Amino acid sequence: MSRIHEALKKAEQERAMSQTSPALPASAASPVLPAAMGKEEDSYPAQESAIPVAEASLAADSPSFASASAPDPDPILSRCAQMQWKPEAKTMLFFNGNDASRGMEEFRTLRSRLYHAREKMALKKILVTSALPKEGKSFTAANLAQVMARQHGRRVLLIDADLRGPRLHTMLGTVAVPGLSDYLRGSHDEFAIMQRGPMENLFFIPSGTQVSAPAELVSSERLKLLMQRLEPLFDWIIVDSPPAVPVADASILAKTCEGVLIVARSNSTPADIARRARQEFSDQVLVGVVLNGINHQADEYSRYYYETYVEETTVAKS
Ligand SMILES: Nc1ncnc2c1ncn2[C@@H]1O[C@H](COP(=O)(O)OP(=O)(O)O)[C@@H](O)[C@H]1O
Ligand SMILES: [Mg+2]
Repeated sequence: MSRIHEALKKAEQERAMSQTSPALPASAASPVLPAAMGKEEDSYPAQESAIPVAEASLAADSPSFASASAPDPDPILSRCAQMQWKPEAKTMLFFNGNDASRGMEEFRTLRSRLYHAREKMALKKILVTSALPKEGKSFTAANLAQVMARQHGRRVLLIDADLRGPRLHTMLGTVAVPGLSDYLRGSHDEFAIMQRGPMENLFFIPSGTQVSAPAELVSSERLKLLMQRLEPLFDWIIVDSPPAVPVADASILAKTCEGVLIVARSNSTPADIARRARQEFSDQVLVGVVLNGINHQADEYSRYYYETYVEETTVAKS
């Protein structure tokens, strides 16, 4: 774990030193693994282009498992609500109709790495978390789900399990209720809380009615039941979560997922706090670290430094 600490510090120093260099477009950054996979679908309404940047690193070490493809999706299509989403143009990269948007390539690279990991382990349900608020968990979860859903025939479910500070419904431009909390309280079934919008293969469960004791609710057996019921219907399930250091919800949620993706905000997340977040998930497989909001002035050495430390230090459960 000390390497995570060292890597964050090292990259912060290097980034600070490179701040006088001209900015590079996101596409100038070299992905380590092949980027796009599968067929892209481009039939979404054109919106203003976004300027996010995210860099991802991933490693996995579990034995090989074949991933099952989703069975007959008819129950979802016929029973979940078709909504008119109005996605935020600045944050929902894959709805803006511009495949050259900055940040999109990084999400394609992240997707490739997750598929690569899935060749070695059972991996369908991924918890996206970070140490603190505002580091880009929801941004990463939403865009990862979108890039996964753009592959032909891949059904993806995005769940807003941040019952304390839900944001995905705002990003997608839809309602938050009914949602996860309503299922967990027993008032709705799984299809009643699920939405679909204009992106054919992307499904969404919002946070639901606001509750006073979120940690107790996510600890309930109903969360496991929900995951068991939904798992056969999707190729990927991406779960957004509250920050890991201040509250326990994320580590409870992680137990229902096969892998955890940790987001750290470049030049913002203190290295020791990022390390504490990792420790919260010491029983889970860390499938990757997303360094969000990087300054593309950072040089190639910094980029590979991150990638190397993840591959060397997160392959095994600690
Ligand atoms: N790489 C990025 N580029 C542009 N905006 C971003 C980026 N990452 C996060 N944001 C924005 O920053 C704010 C906080 O991000 P969010 O994903 O909601 O954080 P968290 O879920 O960790 O609390 C949101 O308005 C989000 O859209
Ligand atoms: Mg969030």
